[in-house]
Order: sequence, then C-alpha cells, then structure tokens
Amino acid sequence: MGFVIGDPCVDIMDKSCIEECPVDCIYEGDRMLYIHPTECIDCGACEAVCPVEAIRPMQRLPDEWKPFKAAAAELFSEVGSPGGSPNIDQPLPDPQFTRNYNK
Ligand code: F3S
Ligand code: F3S
Repeated sequence: MGFVIGDPCVDIMDKSCIEECPVDCIYEGDRMLYIHPTECIDCGACEAVCPVEAIRPMQRLPDEWKPFKAAAAELFSEVGSPGGSPNIDQPLPDPQFTRNYNK
C-alpha cells in the first residue's frame, strides 16, 4: 500500500511526522517531505499526527495528489534506499514537480 505526502506539506513542513515514523522512512526535501515507498511499513502513525492532514494512504489518495506520489517515486529512484533518513544528508533536492509547484 504505502503512504504519500501531498499538497498541504509544501512550504509548511511541520515535521511532526518524522518523530512518529518507527523506521525513519520520511525524508526532507527543500519544500516538503517525502515518504520512501518501499521503506514505509504502512503503520499509519504519521497520518495521525500531521496537523495539516498532508499524509494519506495510497488507497485514499485524491486524484490531484497522484503527482506527489510520482514525485516521491522519482526522488527515490535517484536516491535509492538509504535505509532510514539518519543515513543520508538532507535536504534532498526536490523533484522538478515540487520545485515548480504553485500552492
Ligand atoms: Fe509535512 Fe505534515 Fe510531516 S506538514 S512535515 S507531512 S507533519
Ligand atoms: Fe513511517 Fe508508518 Fe508513516 S512507516 S511513513 S510512520 S505509515
């Protein structure tokens, strides 16, 4: 399944989600955070704590958030699987979609 971070996180980046993730699979970009699609264990802990409801499971992803799923996939196809955010320098470079995104 997997979870995705969408529009409400852009330029907000509350970061409460990072504290909750048991496997540290939420990574920082310049404008938003990204959930690693294969490192995520689908526990749902992050969704509950985001104050702006920016996190959704794949099966409840609004159509307009699908580009955010694609952006995360693009980012991690370049970064690979670090095995947790403490293992890599951040912020990671946002994919083009996020860089150009207008809220
Ligand atoms: Fe973003 Fe919400 Fe996390 S605003 S940083 S997804 S707590
Ligand atoms: Fe992490 Fe669980 Fe969310 S594994 S990204 S806190 S669904």
